[in-house]
Amino acid sequence: MAFINLPKPWKISENQITPETVYYNRRSFLKGVVTTSIAASLIPLTGCQKSASQTALEATLNLPKIPNLKTSPKFSQVDRPITKEILAGQYNNFYEFGSTKKIWLNAQNLPTENWKVEVTGLVKNPKTYDIDDLKKKFPLEERIYRFRCVEAWSMVLPWVGFPMKALMAAVEPKSEAKFVSFTSFYDKEITTGPSFHLGYLPWPYKEGLTIEEMANDLAFFAVGIYGHDLPKQHGAPLRMVIPWKYGFKGAKSIVKVEFLKEKPATYWNTIDPNEYDFQANVNPAKPHPRWSQATEKFISTGPGLSWEIKETLPYNGYGEYVASLYS
Ligand code: MTE
Repeated sequence: MAFINLPKPWKISENQITPETVYYNRRSFLKGVVTTSIAASLIPLTGCQKSASQTALEATLNLPKIPNLKTSPKFSQVDRPITKEILAGQYNNFYEFGSTKKIWLNAQNLPTENWKVEVTGLVKNPKTYDIDDLKKKFPLEERIYRFRCVEAWSMVLPWVGFPMKALMAAVEPKSEAKFVSFTSFYDKEITTGPSFHLGYLPWPYKEGLTIEEMANDLAFFAVGIYGHDLPKQHGAPLRMVIPWKYGFKGAKSIVKVEFLKEKPATYWNTIDPNEYDFQANVNPAKPHPRWSQATEKFISTGPGLSWEIKETLPYNGYGEYVASLYS
């Protein structure tokens, strides 16, 4: 394909990953939280006098609360603290709005009014849902999940949404349906992407699962986070959350769900199948071609962006729910 021999600017620079040597040196003398230079690139969070950018950031997170919310008893706890909302809300990946982590402001251009989600393909009851109908049709619950990015950073996030299998039950996949493709919003006037290679990235962003993965208890559609509607930078108004897979499998701002016979082409896998495989289960024993996946930088508390180095767990700690899918 045309882009294969071009420079690959989407490859994150090495300083976004902790090189193993740095990590091991650090580990030998640092206990607990490690604050690093990324903190300097975030909005300094102050208690008293807020900067204009901090006020603007907080406004993007100040969204309607989801009423009568209950936390799922099964998925209410992980052995780590929930990441501070203001950190999760300003350290994002959303390539449609740029290739840095700081897309929260650009992402506010996403037009979420009158959002529709088309559910189509090999199903008995294809339907285009209005987002408000979706939110009313499927009971919403809060689930606290670990989140592990392929770039070796992680968070714990309190999502609000409904299990994917609830949507499957409503549309009734036909027996020929073996895969599901999820497509993100794309409009080249709005989602202008990283400026440097516009034109040859395989937009729109797409992700895919097997039908068995989508039917798994853990597979989730989020419409909210931290008890309120989903901010645009997190992929409003509907995104995928697949906690045993690397974060790139969780497509944001979904407009289409299609049930298919064949495995669909997906965004990162099309760009570089060697670096981003279709399955993308979190696996500490399988290094990324350019860095180890054995550990992760767990981002949790402020005041700046700081992290603790943690061991990465197989299936991100969800093996008891999903390992049997791959045996
Ligand atoms: N979905 C779309 N449409 N575009 C993206 O660039 N990035 C993915 C995933 N979903 C991405 C996307 C990656 S690489 C990660 S790690 C997560 O979104 C980040 O989610 P967050 O910003 O809400 O933490």
